[in-house]
Parts: sequence; C-alpha cells; structure tokens
Amino acid sequence: MSNVEKTFSIIKPNAVKKAVIGDIIKQFESEGLKVTAAKLAMISKDKCEIFYAEHKERPFFGELVEFMTSGPVLLMVLSGPNAVTKNRQIMGATDPKKADAGTIRAKHADSMGENAVHGSDSAESAKREIALFFEPYELVNA
Ligand code: RTP
Ligand code: MG
Repeated sequence: MSNVEKTFSIIKPNAVKKAVIGDIIKQFESEGLKVTAAKLAMISKDKCEIFYAEHKERPFFGELVEFMTSGPVLLMVLSGPNAVTKNRQIMGATDPKKADAGTIRAKHADSMGENAVHGSDSAESAKREIALFFEPYELVNA
C-alpha cells in the first residue's frame, strides 16, 4: 500500500513575483503530487511569526518574516504517496547552491532566504501548518 499523505507548500513571494507559479505546479504534478487546496494571499506578520516559531531565536528570523510578508504567496496542500518527503525532494536543498540540478530551488531560488518554496519537514508539521492556513471545508479529499 502506498502511503498517501498531505503536505503543506508555499510558493514564496520571489517566485510569485517572477511569475513561475505555473512552472512550479507543473513540476509537482508531473512528479506525482496533486494540488488539493490552494489560495493566493498575503501572510500577516503575526501569523508568519507563529508559522516559523521554531526559528524565532535564529539570527535570520526578522529577515525571514519580512521577506515572507513582502508580497503575495501561494498557499497549497499537496497530496500523494509520501508527499512530505517527495515534496522536499522536488524542492531541493534550502541553500540553492547545494540544490540538485532540476529541483525547484535550483531553478527558481534567488538566495538562501529567497528560495522560492516552503515544504513541511514532517507529517506533524504538515498537520499544524495546514490547520494554520486552511479551514477544514477548504480541503479536498483526493
Ligand atoms: P522551509 O521551512 O522554508 O521549507 O525551508 P527549509 O525547511 O528548507 O529550511 P529551514 O531550516 O526550515 O529554514 C526556513 C527558511 O529560513 C530561511 N533561512 N535563511 N540565512 C540563513 O542562514 C537562513 N537559513 C534558513 C530560508 O528561507 C529557509 O527556507
Ligand atoms: Mg523548514
């Protein structure tokens, strides 16, 4: 049995600005992940600080929140076999210089901070992050 699960994805402000939403979603879909919820929105500073709470003490926290609230983002739920791990493989490493060729970050990241996409790091994180940004009625079963 394949482990069909959900993960949470954000197309970050730099990628929305560059108009590569279509290219990124195409890559998710062609590699086995389906979009099962989506909305384009601005994230408030308060919500962003809750979302990235694990990084609160890191030196880059202020910059990270400022960037993530600087423009619209595409918030998504992606579903498919092993979606959490699969999404992180498709995204590539946090630092685009270390990201494998062909990954989303290798193609679309501008820097370590402006690295085009977010993806949950575990099934528990995915659950928390999805609940932070989506109401239950907004989630499609697929
Ligand atoms: P994300 O949470 O955005 O999917 O990224 P990630 O798991 O690959 O990386 P994480 O360690 O969770 O870091 C969250 C975001 O913070 C920014 N960052 N900047 N300047 C730095 O040293 C630094 N380190 C991390 C990145 O934008 C990263 O995606
Ligand atoms: Mg992370």
